[in-house]
Amino acid sequence: MSALGNKKVLLGITGGIAAYKAAELVRLLIKAGAEVRVVMTESAREFVQPLTYQALSGQPVYTDLFDKHADSAMDHIELARWCDLLLVAPASADFLAKLNAGYADNLLLTLCLASKKPLAVAPAMNQQMFANAATHDNLAALATRGVLIWGPAEGDQACGDIGPGRMLEPEQLLALIDEALAPGPLDGVALLLTAGPTREAIDPVRYLSNRSSGKMGFAVAAAAARAGARVTLISGPVALPTPAGVSRTDVESAREMHDAVMARVGDCDIFVACAAVSDYRIANVAGHKLKKDDAPPVLELELNPDILADVSALAQRPFCVGFAAETRDVEKYALDKLERKNLDLIAANFVGSAGRGFEADDNQLEVYWRGGHARIERGPKAAVAKRLIELIAERYTGRHLSTDSDD
Ligand code: C5P
Repeated sequence: MSALGNKKVLLGITGGIAAYKAAELVRLLIKAGAEVRVVMTESAREFVQPLTYQALSGQPVYTDLFDKHADSAMDHIELARWCDLLLVAPASADFLAKLNAGYADNLLLTLCLASKKPLAVAPAMNQQMFANAATHDNLAALATRGVLIWGPAEGDQACGDIGPGRMLEPEQLLALIDEALAPGPLDGVALLLTAGPTREAIDPVRYLSNRSSGKMGFAVAAAAARAGARVTLISGPVALPTPAGVSRTDVESAREMHDAVMARVGDCDIFVACAAVSDYRIANVAGHKLKKDDAPPVLELELNPDILADVSALAQRPFCVGFAAETRDVEKYALDKLERKNLDLIAANFVGSAGRGFEADDNQLEVYWRGGHARIERGPKAAVAKRLIELIAERYTGRHLSTDSDD
């Protein structure tokens, strides 16, 4: 079933021959029941007249940042708030560069900056311009900020070249808009998540830590936000950008992470403990930098709180998901943790093998719950995280819908 009925789509059109295809997209969106408003840049108007889109959308077309005659039209802040999704199709190389740099010197760029709604771009340009490192870097940077990059396709180009750079066809864009606006399996759910390593001070400049990069946790946070959850991420020290739509708090030590989680857990429905928390902290932290001329220090260790076990022991506990990073006997240790920490679900993986687990871009998970198991085959962490969130959503909604579930 289409998710487009009564949805509000703001369609930005920049200068490119593919602007003519955007007219067909407007027609398809209207036919599917969406409301469409069109914003054109100055160079887009060199290719197609605004009247074309006005006739198809049944709405005035917006062109100027300072439109003195548009008394009934919305200003740029209202327009940015009005839409459910903002799609720029075609998106030229010049537009993408300015969007990445944060320019706001025309109405469309201003709208993109002012909007908190999902933003998608459908690049369309000559294949050499698309292959240029500058365009590549702009798109990569936009993607890490959560901008959806749709296309381009490969094929014949208006300039006679053949290669990647063609805008996706209107039907393909319609399907992608439909998918982006479909309600997610975690709509309205509050999800709290820990990620990354912790650092335990030895002295003012040194610490104990581990190899966790935070990549898996951040991928899970991004997938949960895309599935509609309100995501709060408590992160140890990592070098990763915050995923789109995720609210983040940074901490260093296990105790700081514990405090940050406990302060927020009352408001969450699902808790996912992805962090590689240090089991121990240093009991005798030196107040000054240890010198090598001194006698070798003896570090005394004391146990850190177990954040996940403390959350799952709460009287009003959320749905609890743990991770088990193991170097052997994955199933045995995972099932043991599921019971011991009283979890609803545990995701286990081998670490220490090349290309998977800590610091790697790929992962493979064995997921266990009481009475069930699923394998998530090896793949990029983003794909593995998406599947894990689907499994969490299934188990979470199952638990909430039935009192006589199979677990
Ligand atoms: O370290 P361990 O294998 O016990 O970790 C299992 C799970 O418990 C993980 O999800 C981890 O994030 C969580 N954990 C925690 N606090 C700790 C230790 C582990 O939340 N102190």
